[in-house]
Amino acid sequence: MACRRGIILAGGAGNRVYPLSKVVCKQLLPIYDKPMIYYPLSTLMTAGVREILLISTPDDIPRFRDLLGDGTRLGIRIDYAVQDKPEGIAQAFMIGEDFIRGEPVCLILGDNIFYGRLGFEDALAALDNGAVVFGYRVHDPERYGVLALDTEGNVTDIIEKPRVPPSSYAVVGFYVYDGKVAKHARNLKPSARGELEITDLNRVYLQRGELRVQKLSRGVAWLDTGTPRSLQEAANFLATIEERQGVKLACLEEIAFEMGYIDARELAALAKTMPPSPYRSYVEALLTHG
Ligand code: DAU
Repeated sequence: MACRRGIILAGGAGNRVYPLSKVVCKQLLPIYDKPMIYYPLSTLMTAGVREILLISTPDDIPRFRDLLGDGTRLGIRIDYAVQDKPEGIAQAFMIGEDFIRGEPVCLILGDNIFYGRLGFEDALAALDNGAVVFGYRVHDPERYGVLALDTEGNVTDIIEKPRVPPSSYAVVGFYVYDGKVAKHARNLKPSARGELEITDLNRVYLQRGELRVQKLSRGVAWLDTGTPRSLQEAANFLATIEERQGVKLACLEEIAFEMGYIDARELAALAKTMPPSPYRSYVEALLTHG
């Protein structure tokens, strides 16, 4: 069964970017010309996921709702759920159990930004049983979940923030699971830092022989937004591409139109709801010269 549902996890404490995260969560901070959440949402929309559950803190859920609404205007559906405390990424599947309804689901972390040919839609279409995670080569793997590989390149383990990384391949914040994910998440025990770790969930699938690992190609960019410096670098990267090409990345209205979720009439109506701005002009121009 293809995966049609996706969860965006956009809560957490955001301590590494304090005081930026004091009155608003990190995923609502700007990355160049848009709120950060536009990027993971655009990744899901581009991969064909139209039923979305956004999980965040009790304080931030109303802000996300103000920003994104129920998704109807974009031809998608966005539901919201609260995570009272940041007790781990894998908790998303317990919070989202009613949304998942025992069917395949993907998860994207609200602070992960992807650019390029990702192939996520193929992983979603092909999912039958088990889980799929994606590895990406980085120079500082010790900051992430890291793949351990044997001499033939098969994954033998995944280790969360190892002091000595067994490879240069970090596991990125986009995961695909079968309908049993909530059940497996419920059996996890909190780690030493008191969280239900996504890496432990992935290890359950690995031990069952049900984990597929795909490597993202080096032509893809996976950008980090964990620290003030990486926020700045992500903004610079996206600004460079947008300005060079005269396009906007993660323009949700454009993606909805391109994917056929809304038609030209609906796009025109959406543009009219926007204040006069470069963003509105960009959306209006899509109607005249594509
Ligand atoms: O970015 C990919 C990495 O994400 C993976 O390689 C790691 O295996 C995975 O553990 C995770 O590592 P991080 O150190 O980046 O996790 P962090 O605690 O920063 O959480 C990632 C995002 O999820 C962040 O935006 C906050 C949000 N979050 C996190 C937790 C623990 C929640 O909304 N609720 C939570 O309970």
